[in-house]
Amino acid sequence: MSLPFEISLDLALGGPGAVPKASYDAALKEADGALAWLKSQKLELFDVIERTDDIAAAKAVADQWRDNSSDVAVLGIGGSSLGGQALKAIAKADHKPRVTFHDNPDPWSWQDAMAGFDLRSTRFIVISKSGGTAETLFQAITAADAIEKAGGGKYLKHHFAAITEPKKSVLTDFAESIGAPRLDHPLGIGGRYSVLSMVGVLPALLMGLDVAKLRAGAKAVRDSVLGASSAANATSAVGAALHHALAKDGKLTHTVMWNYADRLATLAAWWQQLWAESLGKDGKGTSPVGAVGPVDQHSQLQLFRDGPNDALYTVIAPDTKGQGLIAPAERAKALGLDYLVGKTMGDLVAAEAKASAETLSRNKRPVRQIRVPTIDEYSLGGLMMHFMLETILMGRLMGVDPFDQPGVEESKILTRKYLAE
Ligand code: PA5
Repeated sequence: MSLPFEISLDLALGGPGAVPKASYDAALKEADGALAWLKSQKLELFDVIERTDDIAAAKAVADQWRDNSSDVAVLGIGGSSLGGQALKAIAKADHKPRVTFHDNPDPWSWQDAMAGFDLRSTRFIVISKSGGTAETLFQAITAADAIEKAGGGKYLKHHFAAITEPKKSVLTDFAESIGAPRLDHPLGIGGRYSVLSMVGVLPALLMGLDVAKLRAGAKAVRDSVLGASSAANATSAVGAALHHALAKDGKLTHTVMWNYADRLATLAAWWQQLWAESLGKDGKGTSPVGAVGPVDQHSQLQLFRDGPNDALYTVIAPDTKGQGLIAPAERAKALGLDYLVGKTMGDLVAAEAKASAETLSRNKRPVRQIRVPTIDEYSLGGLMMHFMLETILMGRLMGVDPFDQPGVEESKILTRKYLAE
């Protein structure tokens, strides 16, 4: 199957911003070892995208809810929410039921959200791998209480579904206590790597997305990376090697994902968590920065171009050429905007994506360009698998465990302690 994107390293390995060849070659050599290691791993992430039983289980819930729900509120935080939010970007804006994600337990936002729901027809998907995350559980029990107070107590089980590991936890107890369906969060997949599992599948089905296509895109990338004869032929290994080469040269404190489509903005938020939580360890790590084009040409570009030269820039651009409204010729001419005559808004964005990449390169910044012909389930699944594998390989190159998150766990424990005081 063909890859859903094309990567150009023209401005990463050539031009004024090129990563020094000797550094890149040395990093690629190390990446060969990391790729061999990855191939030997039996990661559940590789297998989950082959499953169909979990899609059937999610479909059973989605089919029951689809036609008689006004809203589906997805409760979860971090890896239990950001993947679904990235997928939502490609769902139809007016899709019914309306699916909303509630990650931050902001007291005002949650109160407003609850006040806005018709509690007779709102369903809640509660997602927590551990089943013990305070933020998510707080939302779940306040929602259950509100439904009960509104007279729906005996129907509670129809309002909730829980996605959590198949073992005893507060969330499992909650689901059992009300008789709500419980769907399995895979034991071998961490939160930030879980978007292609049930965690993304149930919300995606309710948003009207094609999950088979999502997984097909992921499979195409998995097969291409794991089947590559060397790191140089594996997109994710090349990305890790670029980062590693810069890091070893002391030229990497940041890595920037610059997306030229609103529909990819939440992908950057998902990736930021993936990169930061996986690799920020043992005094090592690089800050992931998200940018949206062309907006950030008028915001962060100045810093990117003239600030410290310590980042890799990944410009992701869909084929916007020819898309959108056309500049009205007469008006454009009358205003002296001749360069816009006959151009679509997509032409403008395409020119800007090219201009930003070249501006950075001309100013000695390394730029990787990713062309995404179509933003859909296939390309999102592919991009997600690509960045997950790149992150895992980068962890291997850096000598850190990309799968744990001791910092997150420490703050969870302290939060519970302070609440108990
Ligand atoms: O990626 C991770 O492991 C974390 O960000 C978790 O997803 C986040 O802390 C939420 O944890 P849980 O799914 O257990 O509620």
